[in-house]
Amino acid sequence: MFGARCLLRILRSCSSAPCPRHNPAVRLSVRDALGAQNASGERVKVQGWIRSVRSQKEVLFLHVNDGSSLESLQVVGDSSFDSRELTFGCSLEVQGQLVKSPSKRQNVELKAEKIEVVGNCDAKAFPFKYKERHPLEYMRQYPHLRCRTNVLGAILRVRSEATAAIHSFFKDSGFVHIHTPIITSNDCEGAGELFQVEPSSTIKLPEENFFDVPAFLTVSGQLHLEVMSGAFTRVFTFGPTFRAENSQSRRHLAEFYMVEAEFSFVENLQELIQVMEGLFKTATVMVLSNCSEDVDLCHKFIAPGQKDILEHMLKNNFLILCICLPHPPDLSISYTEAVEILKQSSQIFTFTPEWGVDLHAEHEKYLVKHCGNIPVFVINYPLELKPFYMRDNEDGPQQTVAAVDLLVPGVGELFGGSLREERYHFLAQRLARSGLTEAYQWYLDLRRFGSVPHGGFGMGFERYLQCILGIQNIKDVIPFPRFTHSCLL
Ligand code: 4AD
Ligand code: MG
Repeated sequence: MFGARCLLRILRSCSSAPCPRHNPAVRLSVRDALGAQNASGERVKVQGWIRSVRSQKEVLFLHVNDGSSLESLQVVGDSSFDSRELTFGCSLEVQGQLVKSPSKRQNVELKAEKIEVVGNCDAKAFPFKYKERHPLEYMRQYPHLRCRTNVLGAILRVRSEATAAIHSFFKDSGFVHIHTPIITSNDCEGAGELFQVEPSSTIKLPEENFFDVPAFLTVSGQLHLEVMSGAFTRVFTFGPTFRAENSQSRRHLAEFYMVEAEFSFVENLQELIQVMEGLFKTATVMVLSNCSEDVDLCHKFIAPGQKDILEHMLKNNFLILCICLPHPPDLSISYTEAVEILKQSSQIFTFTPEWGVDLHAEHEKYLVKHCGNIPVFVINYPLELKPFYMRDNEDGPQQTVAAVDLLVPGVGELFGGSLREERYHFLAQRLARSGLTEAYQWYLDLRRFGSVPHGGFGMGFERYLQCILGIQNIKDVIPFPRFTHSCLL
């Protein structure tokens, strides 16, 4: 009746204790218990937290959840159980027999033989109430307790599945996983949004830095991946990154997770674009198949309409844009075209679109809508807007670099990537202009010793979750959000 994993556990416990009286109940997760086929009285033990209590004269019904699934397990007890301590939110351990449920609402239920309260819960003071649907903003006030709600439980399980799906995509595509450092002495993006790292115990003079040089929390693992791409042709990293951005926006955090990939021997953006689209679609299909109930909960109660938007994204090729302007053969639009589209629009923007000025969230939103709500790649941005490492397109007065951003419905920029400047003299000039030559000697070295054309991208993991689930605020897709003026817990 159980899956292979559970069956093994039962056989193990039976072989050591053949007598049923001494046969200890097998510990099962709620998910495994609910998945049991043809339950016929196996003795099991389930641990978790009460999600609902209904105590009638003759019978007691509890719903117990342990975070392994959205659905809770129904526990049924007779009148011999004292239900006074069994309150919403308390933790408990139940032993009993797993049986087929007479109700159509669930396949199995646990007929309780023993119920032990492990930790009481003062349900009146508990900030979440039974049967109440709490808004996400309300839950955000309780970062230490909100994981007990169905919605946060679902989002965090999706987050976990998506992490596994992304690792599996890269593994299946032949990438080597690299642990890039959290503490670094360089500012990859050159935007100055750095958190400096120093021991808290001592106040130091600038020349007494712990590492002898100023050190920071990483804003991106890219430069370290580029080092690795001098020895491995395909590498990726997936870890926390930090930006001291003074933003309270619904899509910025001070600490967020980034998925980054770097490819050697890559000469055009199209190759990067294919992997970006492949990563998005493969990971999403995997998440949808492995935790459909959790995704459905978000689509149904938080973002009605998101299911259709996501299906539309998955079944169409990204990036198609039919405008009067000729578009490049790879079907992405160029930054220059994007600005033209914005200028021709009748919409009044807060920030007037202008060549040489970065696209704002409102512009990105308009462009995605313009493309029929299909994700769109925007390529070839002005050189002056982008960091020193991006490859010069050498295209005349309106100089651009081989950069690519993927804009998606509801979120805007999800991926940022580029070809890297692999030509020593071009890079040396760019570094000199920015006064970075000394600090980036090692980076120049990479161009002296077996340099290859290469490129890569980074995807904001929280923005990815926002995009597939339709969650408006980025603070709701990370367990413990950090942003300006807030570092709770
Ligand atoms: O566009 P960004 O800044 O690109 C880089 O850092 C490159 N070095 C990556 C690479 O090529 N290896 O950041 C990449 C993505 C953005 O597209 C966005 O989705 C996300 O990271 N991102 C943020 N997400 C949440 N909060 C923030 N403050 C973010 N800043 C960027
Ligand atoms: Mg970017």
